Amino acid sequence: MGDTKKTYYITTPIYYPSAKLHIGHTYCTSVADTIARFKRLAGYDVRFLTGSDEHGQKIQRAAEAQGITPLEYTTNIVNGFKALWEKMHISNDDFLRTTEKRHEKVVQELFTKAYEKGDIYKAEYEGWYCTPCETFWTEQKLGENHTCPDCGRPVEKVKEESYFFKLAKYTDQWLKFIEENPDFIQPESRCNEMIQFVKQGLEDLAVSRTSFDWGIKVPFDPKHVVYVWFDALVNYISALSPFDGDGELYKKYWPADLHLVGKEIVRFHTIIWPMMLMSLELPLPKKVFGHGWMIVDGTKMSKSLGNVIDPIPLIDTYGADSLRYYLLSEITLGNDGNFTLPNFVTKINADLSNDLGNLLNRTIAMIEKYHGGVITKCDDMDDLDRDVSTLAVQTAKDFEAAMENMELNKAIKSVWAFIGRMNKYIDETMPWVLAKSEDAHDKARLQSAMYHLAEALRIIAIIVSPVIPVGAPKIWDQLGLVGFTDATLEDAKVWGLIPTGTKVVKGDPIYPRFEIPEMVEVVVEEKIEEAVDTSNIPPLKENITYDDFEKLDLRVAKVVSCEMVPKSKKLLKFVLDIGVEERTVLSGISQYYEPEAMVGKKVIYLANLAPKKMMGIESYGMILSASDWEEHLEVTNIESLPAGSVVK
Ligand code: MSP
Repeated sequence: MGDTKKTYYITTPIYYPSAKLHIGHTYCTSVADTIARFKRLAGYDVRFLTGSDEHGQKIQRAAEAQGITPLEYTTNIVNGFKALWEKMHISNDDFLRTTEKRHEKVVQELFTKAYEKGDIYKAEYEGWYCTPCETFWTEQKLGENHTCPDCGRPVEKVKEESYFFKLAKYTDQWLKFIEENPDFIQPESRCNEMIQFVKQGLEDLAVSRTSFDWGIKVPFDPKHVVYVWFDALVNYISALSPFDGDGELYKKYWPADLHLVGKEIVRFHTIIWPMMLMSLELPLPKKVFGHGWMIVDGTKMSKSLGNVIDPIPLIDTYGADSLRYYLLSEITLGNDGNFTLPNFVTKINADLSNDLGNLLNRTIAMIEKYHGGVITKCDDMDDLDRDVSTLAVQTAKDFEAAMENMELNKAIKSVWAFIGRMNKYIDETMPWVLAKSEDAHDKARLQSAMYHLAEALRIIAIIVSPVIPVGAPKIWDQLGLVGFTDATLEDAKVWGLIPTGTKVVKGDPIYPRFEIPEMVEVVVEEKIEEAVDTSNIPPLKENITYDDFEKLDLRVAKVVSCEMVPKSKKLLKFVLDIGVEERTVLSGISQYYEPEAMVGKKVIYLANLAPKKMMGIESYGMILSASDWEEHLEVTNIESLPAGSVVK
């Protein structure tokens, strides 16, 4: 008989090995892993892919700065990625490095195919490039002072021979596809953003570079290397070896069911990638979901800010389940999420150690004490029993529905509500009172209570396993059950599967309690001092006279209020107290600061800059900020910036 299981192919982005991974990356991979594990539980034949994106100018420069080859540089870091995923109990079926031959071959094949079709042509690229984002930008799309509209860092002028991909040609086909597949881009708000982006007009995309050589060579013109995003996106297909033998893996798993990506790279996955596939006449993935960012103290976690939280010490101290549980239950998929160590420890103590851990401990201890550790099957005896047996099955169904809907935190919440109900059930049935009674009905009641507790825990163990894969099998083992890896979601939707005579096995508490640490003890990784590439520092400007300087009216101002400007990606609207009056000023720094975090802060303010209207709002003067040429901008604290950063 053939394999009739439905397939499910899920991917994470492939990460740049430009630095150690932080809990932002861990978040993305944990979400994907939880979905992959859930789908396996639901009976799918799952393929889960992650990997590393190793080519491009950024990597080449970083390797040069360390005096090693790019491959030596990436190999070191990629080994760290793999170790981290193992520590996090990530169940990926494959890990693709873009430096592998299997990938290179497919990129070259597909590039050639698009070229032969006439969708790739040679011309000269003259425009702007953001190296940290590895993104080409047209003059019109740039931010103020020639900055990248995505990350806000200065872009570089590039003029070189390039191959171009006819992106614009696929505009109508793309718009039609989106209209017919409204669920393709999730969440919906990101879909609307992408439609706007495409409707504003696309330009053909430069897909090769000639000014450096760390990349996959264009096979018919080897002085060109393939643009790193064209190269990287192909990973989702090259990992399925479409041209090996009869392309069995590719046939089985493509198109992907879900590309899970961060919000800033939704554009590449929902516009460029589908248009490449349209040109190649290959099926499009079924869904792209753009998740939010991990934020620390109001700002995006990023390595150059030195505010990245290293997941390794967290896992070593608190365990992989704790970190997974926190990230998945605290954040609504699609929104940004916060991490602070005291919140994290408070949450895992309450939910894992207290609610779940205690339910298990109390249940096992009572079955041992009252029935010599042996479980006896019992039907519902009263409304209380009926309540919990019905709720158990309903919880498994609610969990499934929320997971199918990508509402991971809602799914988890429904399980913890049930755990809470079961702890209450213990208080309501008062087994310690029943145990003292000689009455036959009380004895039967006690046996039934123990059975209902054990059954509830059996169902809980199954449904929490995608979220906390370390603890779930321990619950199973303590219940004295076998064959956890064969348990299915269907088993969780059926009440009463523990057979009479099952003997519980008391174990250590599955989740210990931790001291709540002080806020200041947050495990923040040391700021990574990278070799500074001084070629990026903008040249010094011409001298000005003291009279020129005197013209600037610079003031200290206090932020009275701060909010996002509707429909703008970058602008924050500030109201400043400048002593004599209040001023409204717009500043394009929303990717660095959450508006609420700015209120009450003092900033340096250029008061006499001529007013300017932006997005229909008159902006008076300018808030000064300093930024390096990487991804770091500061308004109030310049300590963390390298020398040479520009104040503007
Ligand atoms: N190499 C590209 C992806 C190519 S996929 C064909 C890339 N790499 S990355 O390492 O910069 O980012 C990988 C993923 O990590 C992105 O989805 C990004 O959103 C995510 N995150 C990076 N910082 C993050 C947070 N602070 N929070 C959540 N996710 C974050 O882009």
